[in-house]
Amino acid sequence: MSAKLVTPSGAFKDSFIEALREGFVRGIETERSPEEIDAIADDFPAYLEDILTKDKTGQILCPDGNTYERVPSSDYWLVLDEAFIGSISLRHKLNEFLLKFGGHIGYGVRPSFRHQGYGTLMLRLCLDEARKTLKTDRVLLTCSEGNMGSRKIIEANGGILEDVVSFDWQDDNTMRYWIEL
Ligand SMILES: CC(C)(COP(=O)(O)OP(=O)(O)OC[C@H]1O[C@@H](n2cnc3c(N)ncnc32)[C@H](O)[C@@H]1OP(=O)(O)O)[C@@H](O)C(=O)NCCC(=O)NCCS
Repeated sequence: MSAKLVTPSGAFKDSFIEALREGFVRGIETERSPEEIDAIADDFPAYLEDILTKDKTGQILCPDGNTYERVPSSDYWLVLDEAFIGSISLRHKLNEFLLKFGGHIGYGVRPSFRHQGYGTLMLRLCLDEARKTLKTDRVLLTCSEGNMGSRKIIEANGGILEDVVSFDWQDDNTMRYWIEL
């Protein structure tokens, strides 16, 4: 059986919690503390409900210190049999911040499954979802200049470099790529 993208569900709870304990993060997230992981495990339905609510409204505080309008998004998990491998978030549109940093898609592969092609596969499968879901003919992806894994994943999926930008709140330069849908 090959890995596939699924809607996050309780069926993968144990494996997802194991991934968090391994240090699984997505994008620029920081690793969760043991206490935070215990809290997620104790009320997993609440955690799922939070990530499955696509149309959260309101404002979101971004790393530049400003608040922006939250955009709708869909989360998917890459799984193989019972195992959670990674997660990917597809934002349905961009706001002013995401256009500079973050883009339409953010992802992460759990440490024990890295370097096996899953990051590349997960983005490819997510682009298929984007073709079905989004009303746009291209998506923006951004990554740190030093994140060679992410750069290769984006380029292997057809990413065309738009520019390399820097922000005073970010140590590394940011590479901005477009992928045609
Ligand atoms: C970046 C990340 C998603 C890569 O996932 P992965 O499953 O290991 O990626 P793949 O196995 O598909 O690797 C793709 C390519 O990148 C290379 N690669 C992966 N990690 C690498 C690293 N740390 N340094 C250099 N190259 C790397 C692989 O060798 C492969 O190269 P190839 O195509 O020439 O064989 C994963 O390391 C991760 O989740 N990191 C933390 C979160 C993160 O950075 N998310 C992306 C934010 S933009």
